[in-house]
Amino acid sequence: MKALDGIKILDFTHVQSGPTCTQLLAWFGADVLKVERPGVGDATRKQLVDVPGADSLYFTMLNHNKRSIELNSKNETGKEVLTRLIEECDVLVENFAPGALDRMGFSWERIQEINPRIIMASVKGFGPGKYEDCKVYENVAQCAGGAASTTGFLDGPPLVTGAQIGDSGTGLHLALGIMTALFQRERTGRGQKVLAPMQDGVLNLCRVKLRDQQRLDAGPLKEYSQFGEGIPFGEATPRAGNDSGGGQPGRILKCKGWETDPNAYTYFITQAAVWEPICDVIGKPEWKTAEGYATPPERLDKLNEIFGAIEEWTMTKTKFEVMDICNPLNIPVGPILSTKELIEDEGLRATGTIVDVDHPERGTYASVGCPIKLSDSPVDVTRSPLLGEHTVEILRDVLGYEGEALQAVIESGAVGEAQKTAAE
Ligand SMILES: CC(C)(COP(=O)(O)OP(=O)(O)OC[C@H]1O[C@@H](n2cnc3c(N)ncnc32)[C@H](O)[C@@H]1OP(=O)(O)O)[C@@H](O)C(=O)NCCC(=O)NCCS
Repeated sequence: MKALDGIKILDFTHVQSGPTCTQLLAWFGADVLKVERPGVGDATRKQLVDVPGADSLYFTMLNHNKRSIELNSKNETGKEVLTRLIEECDVLVENFAPGALDRMGFSWERIQEINPRIIMASVKGFGPGKYEDCKVYENVAQCAGGAASTTGFLDGPPLVTGAQIGDSGTGLHLALGIMTALFQRERTGRGQKVLAPMQDGVLNLCRVKLRDQQRLDAGPLKEYSQFGEGIPFGEATPRAGNDSGGGQPGRILKCKGWETDPNAYTYFITQAAVWEPICDVIGKPEWKTAEGYATPPERLDKLNEIFGAIEEWTMTKTKFEVMDICNPLNIPVGPILSTKELIEDEGLRATGTIVDVDHPERGTYASVGCPIKLSDSPVDVTRSPLLGEHTVEILRDVLGYEGEALQAVIESGAVGEAQKTAAE
């Protein structure tokens, strides 16, 4: 048994943010019915194509364990089928541009009329306010949510990060909102509307940067490298390069091979509690007691010198040797792992966080599996559906269309040409 067995999701999502949310729900056992425009489907199916004619990795890696129904929700019969889906499902998840669902004739009021128990969950770029009508993509959210202004080096421009905190991050927020609403429905019997704006999701992940914004009122942020370098602070939380955010000085340092390998680096934290082992490891035992080096506040204006000395040592070791030497001494370090190293990582493969998936059009590919592990609800990652693969199955088994009624839906054109052939 899976945790969400029996929960049906009307998955009206596309691109990344919404699909990551419904993929998680599918992994936890929900029956996720992905509604896609006939003949077209989720635009990502045909974006960043690597195998001509096959669904792209962009699509397949975001839509595992789902079923696909082609449905034109602007066609009259299509609207009837959509109404039936709303009646049958527990949750409707969507991330259309603002107002798209209303334009289809399915406002929240109408959806509640059809099924008062349904939860309607939406990702939008912004919450209510002056930007609420904007279409928003990942990097816009990173910029609007405080991530870009606080990422990068002090002397460089704002930077976006590789982690998709706007899309996948908001998908996670939405999944939590949905689960909470399902839990409340157990007691009230009523559905509700769940909204996860991308700006708000990114801002939530930048919480510590808003902490620092307010700490500026009390004076400079001493754990930032710029303090030790004597560079004055401005009005807002600055970009902190690779400084660690938690108050313990940290940097990314070169390791053996850095000249040719762009990822031969390690993260290194000079945690106060392990200062003495650090001094021994890097061959500076005198720093354990030397004036100006023995305590964390004294070291703040010498971080460049200290990390320079540590780097002289790390450059003689591979990033994995640094890990092997420092871990037993409780010195917090971490290798900079490339995507190639991660996809080949035996540990991640053993836990199912990296999985191989077979696909009829593209063969075997690697994907990121479910990163959340439930001991009583194991996850089996299955491939993403082909466009409309389950149209007839869903019309029959979920919605109860049979015989002439089923034929009429197919003949109406609401579910696409391909299904006409499939049913004949
Ligand atoms: C991502 C985004 C920018 C894409 O914009 P887009 O490609 O123009 O797509 P839209 O969401 O506007 O939908 C396009 C149209 O397709 C229609 N459509 C979608 N599925 C349909 C279906 N099954 N049948 C008929 N029409 C359908 C929509 O109703 C909409 O029509 P409208 O413009 O007449 O209202 C936009 O959806 C958005 O801002 N979403 C919210 C934020 C978000 O999730 N962003 C991150 C994405 S990773």
